[in-house]
Amino acid sequence: MKRISSLPGMQKLALDWRRKGVRVGLVPTMGYLHEGHLSLVRKARALVGAGGKVVVSIYVNPTQFAPTEDLSKYPRDLKRDLRLCRDAGADVVFTPVDGDMYAGRSTGGYSTYVVEETLSRGMEGASRPTHFRGVTTVVAKLFLLVLPEVAVFGAKDWQQASVVRRMVQDLNFPLRVVVATTVREPDGLAMSSRNVYLTPEQRAGATVLSRSLREVRRRVRDARTGVPAGDLERQVAEGVAQVSEARLDYVAFFDPETLMPAVTVTRGTQMALAVWFGRTRLIDNGRL
Ligand code: PAF
Repeated sequence: MKRISSLPGMQKLALDWRRKGVRVGLVPTMGYLHEGHLSLVRKARALVGAGGKVVVSIYVNPTQFAPTEDLSKYPRDLKRDLRLCRDAGADVVFTPVDGDMYAGRSTGGYSTYVVEETLSRGMEGASRPTHFRGVTTVVAKLFLLVLPEVAVFGAKDWQQASVVRRMVQDLNFPLRVVVATTVREPDGLAMSSRNVYLTPEQRAGATVLSRSLREVRRRVRDARTGVPAGDLERQVAEGVAQVSEARLDYVAFFDPETLMPAVTVTRGTQMALAVWFGRTRLIDNGRL
């Protein structure tokens, strides 16, 4: 396994692979890897085959964090990440640095961003207004540097995957976006690098996200007809309010393809929620 930090170095290798017809899969990450990321690496390997190349990018992208967010304290452990990538079968770990990715940004020398204007508006976009501009920009740059034929994203960030897929469609990137199943802890909590911020008490309470999903799914499946979204929003808000230190940011019910809000919730509707625990914000989502 190779580690590459240079942007021209990565792009040169990618062009070389392309000339030789090598299939390339990309798993974009911000590091501090867990089993969820590793399942994406294995998925990428299965998609490109033994003769293909799997690239894992590790880059804590500053443009997707608002000034008030956790950029400086975002967890990092590159040594461990490199070992995990090697064990999971990655061929290259791409570790660009800010000075190269956004050269000259602080002095106005970097001024190009990619903005998706519809799917990125609600939910995460409403709570974090500059977030998706940063995500689409860095993902577009990674696509141009790594030239993958397939890129694998996790279903936990359903809206992110939908926004990236729309960008790929709208800007004609010649690649396929694959969304892989969320990996969960035994008690149901979706794996996330941010889980490490939780105190033991918050960690115990954090199961409220997956529990809310399960309870709503059960209610929707038991109902003969659809359930009004407002009723389910109240149910989730009441459930979260019972958990010490938990504060609901949003819960949303929507069409999984268009992300349009659902007024009546039925089987197949997507549900997403975000919950604060102190200064840590966790998200989860699933198909009902
Ligand atoms: O999901 C993430 O970890 C990030 O948003 C991504 C896709 C790597 C872009 O920085």
